[in-house]
Amino acid sequence: MNDTQSQKTLVLFKPGVLQRRIAGEILNRFERKGLKIIAMKLLRMDKPMVEAHYAEHKGKDFYEKLVEYTLTGPVLAMILEGDEAVMIVRRLIGPTSIDSSLPGTIRGDFAAHTRLNIIHASDSPESAGREMALFFRPEEICEWTDGNSPWF
Ligand code: CMP
Repeated sequence: MNDTQSQKTLVLFKPGVLQRRIAGEILNRFERKGLKIIAMKLLRMDKPMVEAHYAEHKGKDFYEKLVEYTLTGPVLAMILEGDEAVMIVRRLIGPTSIDSSLPGTIRGDFAAHTRLNIIHASDSPESAGREMALFFRPEEICEWTDGNSPWF
């Protein structure tokens, strides 16, 4: 059909999503785009896990508050799969900075503060590999196919 590449990416609904009861509404945006859920887990991250997830931001001025926020409640972690999933998910989510997140994107529609931007997604296939391994054991990933469905 085309030369796009199937990818997997890690998406994390931060505590604000569950607190505001908008998990279904956000998940719907990924599904209607044609992305496939192949793993999902509701969990409370502990501090070492949050620090491992956000290791690249250690030392930045927002880091301590970011860790604190991520620990305020359960998160919903998932792996989404689809053609160019890393890029497609990032575009659906919108830029990290709320200043640049336009209406129509998840952050543009649901978040008012950059630090509390409600959702995280891997920024490259390499990050996706590392982040998926932090949240999921291989046996927790459920691969499935659409058969010959032409839709996606
Ligand atoms: P996320 O995609 O989870 O990746 C790192 C997080 O750090 C980011 O979303 C924001 O929640 C937070 N973050 C990044 N940059 C800033 C910033 N300039 N000010 C406050 N928080 C930030």
